Order: sequence, then structure tokens, then C-alpha cells
Amino acid sequence: MENLIKDIDILPAEEAQACDFKTTAEESTGKSKKLYIESYGCQMNFSDSEIVASIMKENGFDTTSDFEKADVIFLNTCSIRDKAEQTVRKRLSQFNTVKKQRPEMTIGVLGCMAERLKDKLLEEEKIVDVVVGPDAYRDLPNLVSQAEDGNKGVNTFLSREETYADIAPVRLNSNGVTAFISIMRGCDNMCSFCVVPFTRGRERSRDPHSIVREARELFDKGYREVTLLGQNVDSYKWSPEENNKARLNKKEEEVSEVVNFANLLEMVARVDHRLRVRFSTSHPKDITDEVLYTMKRYDNICKYIHLPVQSGNSRVLELMNRTYDREWYLNRVRAIREILGESCGISSDMIAGFCTETEEEHQDTLSMMDLVRYDFSYMFYYSERPGTLAAKKYTDDIPLDIKKRRLAEIIAKQNKLSLERNQLDVGTTQLILIEGTSKRSEEEYKGRTSANKMVIIPKGDYTKGDYVLVKITDCTAATLFGEIIEINPAIA
Ligand code: SAH
Ligand code: SF4
Ligand code: F3S
Repeated sequence: MENLIKDIDILPAEEAQACDFKTTAEESTGKSKKLYIESYGCQMNFSDSEIVASIMKENGFDTTSDFEKADVIFLNTCSIRDKAEQTVRKRLSQFNTVKKQRPEMTIGVLGCMAERLKDKLLEEEKIVDVVVGPDAYRDLPNLVSQAEDGNKGVNTFLSREETYADIAPVRLNSNGVTAFISIMRGCDNMCSFCVVPFTRGRERSRDPHSIVREARELFDKGYREVTLLGQNVDSYKWSPEENNKARLNKKEEEVSEVVNFANLLEMVARVDHRLRVRFSTSHPKDITDEVLYTMKRYDNICKYIHLPVQSGNSRVLELMNRTYDREWYLNRVRAIREILGESCGISSDMIAGFCTETEEEHQDTLSMMDLVRYDFSYMFYYSERPGTLAAKKYTDDIPLDIKKRRLAEIIAKQNKLSLERNQLDVGTTQLILIEGTSKRSEEEYKGRTSANKMVIIPKGDYTKGDYVLVKITDCTAATLFGEIIEINPAIA
């Protein structure tokens, strides 16, 4: 159990959503300067790194996976929990040695930690040359060139309009089959534990045509799955009056109607029936029946919903300022089951040991898990973040050992539920999209079901990007195993 707790924040990349992990990126087109970029935090941050790489590419930089050869090092950071920030600080101290050998190298801190700490970061971390927040990436080439002349720079301006809609992301570490598309930025909710509204600014939605165009271009390049990203996708809203003024490409067809998330999902689903559509994250207060019915109408919209509950107790949910209670959440789950059936995947995020949480209230989280029967969860213990509502209003009064014990109970419950949910799939036939070679063995492929479950199959006369019908033969709590029934079946 001890090991589990230590590793809690480190989840496998392909399951990343709400976790703190890093990855590096490489793309070479023969440009003279080299950028090394390392990303932490949520998928939106990884998506932002692809925008950063694109902006830097326009300015003469290729990405490299070898930081020792880089002219510029960027860390795209996360502030969600204290541990995420500590990881970045450790990494910066490791870069000290390289910087000593090559003082001309520029080191930049980007993302949420940059936004939270602003110029304090320059004082605290002497090796940092530029500090750039999530809405200021267009200024990166300018700040880097100033840094090359010896002038350190900070830009943490938060915008009400920036969506980088016109920038074609450079796909980093891509498997060539699945890609992420940012559909909105920022967050207008004020969950009391959460730093995101402070680091990402106000919520704004991206022009739907630019989203559909990006999906179509990905499909034409051979991609077969897109995940639409936002902190709260259900509140996506594009209205011509509010948004046309911010549009960057006036030549495009004008949008005359208000586009909500259900409309956008439909627009992307219609790009091609062979393009799978996923989305994340849904907020329980905003997910509508209209979205659920749209999911039902299109076979290529995957039947999987990430619906973070955070706590199963109404009093704690109120303190968290989540704006729903236990009954509301259970009603939404009931709607999902009624409209999309038992096989629709549901996953969650849970926080153990929030301020003043009692043992009974913690039990409510466990009973909520039993009622919903989550397929998967990201589970954390509460980490107080400076400046948040909870930090201002409540005492972080649950001792660490109790937080860890409660979290361990949540994890044990989830492992049991994941196994039970996976066992229900054994014997069924599932359509999976092959994403590449399995990590476990060169002889096997991996792909996911509509409900987002990873399936391992033996390699055969099919390849990455193929759809295959698979009979599920076995499972663990994390993975399904299957054998092929049919390759590239006619799909609806
Ligand atoms: N927008 C998403 C969540 C983004 S943050 C949503 O509303 O669901 C990802 C997850 O990190 C959250 O769902 C929450 O479970 C966790 N988290 C956020 N702040 C935290 C904190 N201060 N301590 C522990 N976990 C936190
Ligand atoms: Fe944070 Fe809440 Fe916004 Fe999610 S919805 S990003 S938890 S404030
Ligand atoms: Fe972290 Fe920022 Fe995402 S705080 S979780 S990188 S929005």
C-alpha cells in the first residue's frame, strides 16, 4: 500500500487527464536552433506544448529530446498540487549543471506555475530566464530573443479572448492515430480547492469552425480519434455576437447560431464516421441530456464520460463549491445509464481528506463509488493551494496520515470496482481502434474500446489506425485481453 501512495501522482501517459506526469518531445525539420520542451500536468498543458512548438517552429526552432543539445529549454508546468510544483523545482536544479556548462542556453518556465508565481520565480530560481503564462505564448519568440541578449523576461498576461485558434499544433510524441483538440480555455467555476481559475483565467470557447477544420485535417493525415479538451466542456458556448469580434479568420463561413457543446460534438462527429470522438472533462452540474442523446445518435462518439465527483458527501461538496450535491450527481448518473446503457464508461476524480471531512463523510465517498461503479478514477489527497478559496476560508485540518489512509481506502475500492467492471466485458465483442504496439510486448498491439478500456491483442494482419472487432477473453483491473474476430469491419 505504501508504494501505491508514493506513486499516486504518477499515472501512465495514455491515461493522463488530471495527473502530474511529464513527457518530452521531438520533431525535426532541419531548423538551426533546438528547443527541448518538457510537459507536466493535465492534457491541456500537453496540448499547449504543441502550440508552443508550433510558435517556436515558425521562429526557427526544431524540438529535440536531448536537453543537453538544446538552445532553449522550456518546462511547461502544473500547479494543481504542491507535489507537482516540487517536481518542477527539482528538475530546475538538475538543469543547473547543464546551464553552468552552457550559460548561453535559455531556460523558460511556462504554464500554470509560471502564471501563479510570476516574477517571484525569477527571484527564487536563478537559472530561469523567461516566465510565460498560458495566454502569452505568442510572445515567446520575442522573450527568448531578449533573453539571448541577457535580458530576463516575464509575461503572465491573462486574456479574455486568446484561444490560439489559428495556430496549427505541431503534434509531439504522436502515435499518428489519436490526437487532442483544445476547444476552450480557462475556467469560470470556483471550486474552492482549485488553482486552475487563477492560473488559466476566464473561460472562453474556441471558434467551432477552427475546431472542425482541425479535426478534418487530422482525419486526412490518418488520425482516427480526437479528444475535445476543456476544464468543463459542457459549458462550451460560441455565440456570433460575443465571439465574432474575436475571430481571426473572417473569410470562414459565419456562424449564425449559438453553438453549445452538444452541437459542437455533432459537428465533429460528422467530419467522418471513421473518426472517433471523445471529450474531457464533463462537469456534473453542466452535462445535459442533449449531450447524452447526441452521444447516443452517433456510433463514432465514444461511450465514455469523465465525470469527476470529488466527494460523495453533500456538505463537503458544498464546502468545495462544486454547486451540486450527492442526489444531483446520482441523478446525472441515472440519466447516463438510462440514455446510454450499462456499458457506457464512467470515470471520476476523488479528493480524500478535504478540510473538516469526517470519517462518515469519507464513507459517503466510498458508498458513492459503489453506487456509480466507476470504471476508473484519478484519486488524490487534498493539497492546499495558496490563494484558493479553501486556503482563505478553511483550515487544512486533516492530518496527512489520515488523508493517506482515506486515499488508500478509495484506491482499494476503485481497484475492486475496475476489476468487476472489466470482468463484465469478458466474453463480449468490442470494436477497438489500434493505437500501436503494446508497452508490454513487441508481439502485441494495444487499442481502446468505446468505453475507453485498453485492450491488448496479438499482432496480426492489421496495423495502427485499423478498427478491429475483438472478443474479450480475459482481464485485469487495468487491462482487457482479446482475440481478433474481424479486421476493419464495416462501421456505421
Ligand atoms: N476541471 C476538472 C478538473 C481539473 S483538475 C474538473 O472540474 O473536474 C484535476 C483534478 O485534480 C480535480 O478533479 C481534482 O480531483 C484534483 N485536484 C484539484 N485541486 C486539487 C487539490 N488542491 N488537492 C488535491 N487534488 C486536487
Ligand atoms: Fe478547477 Fe473546478 Fe474549474 Fe475543474 S471546474 S478546473 S476543479 S475550478
Ligand atoms: Fe495543472 Fe494547470 Fe492543468 S494546474 S492540471 S497544468 S490547468
